[in-house]
Amino acid sequence: MSTDAILTENELYADLERVLFDRETIQTRVRELGRQISEDYRGRELVLISIIKGGIVFLSDLMRAITIPHAFDLVGASSYRGGTRSTGRVIITKDAELDLRGKHILLVEDILDSGHTLNVVCELLRIQEPASLEICALLNKNRTRDFSIPLKYVGFEIPDEYVVGYGLDYKEHYRNLACIGVLKPEIYRD
Ligand code: IMP
Ligand code: MG
Repeated sequence: MSTDAILTENELYADLERVLFDRETIQTRVRELGRQISEDYRGRELVLISIIKGGIVFLSDLMRAITIPHAFDLVGASSYRGGTRSTGRVIITKDAELDLRGKHILLVEDILDSGHTLNVVCELLRIQEPASLEICALLNKNRTRDFSIPLKYVGFEIPDEYVVGYGLDYKEHYRNLACIGVLKPEIYRD
């Protein structure tokens, strides 16, 4: 089983043009974010909310790096992408299940790209009148956006390139890579 996992990982690594953040670098940064969030939200009712599917790998590491009591929930959002770019159309496929009124929500997202997904999810969550609503994004793509999405916490700033690994996919693959990297262009030039 573990041998299979290692082989699969190696196979996927071969499709990367370059690694942006290796396993250790990601884990160190996630621990730092966890410490900061634990300090900032001490004494408050914190609920982490992640967006499936991409955000759940980050969520599962981040929640274990947070040392204060908290709950978590999941929201489903699908953004239709033409190739590797967002078309701006987002549909909600799953609402949060917890009662969020008066809670301090921290949205835990894998990547801020066009911002359409976070925009729609924030609108959805605000209806429940939380005490606060902030965003923690592991990656922030350096690009222009039609609207601003304020991020309270950012793991890493990245160039405007299509990245995979650590939850992020291309056609549902590469989510299980422990690192984050840029795909070889020939993979998505299909
Ligand atoms: P948005 O463009 O900010 O709405 O991003 C929507 C979603 O597309 C993100 O939550 C990711 O799941 C996915 N996404 C955006 N950029 C990338 C990328 O570079 N690689 C893989 N997935 C991405
Ligand atoms: Mg996502």
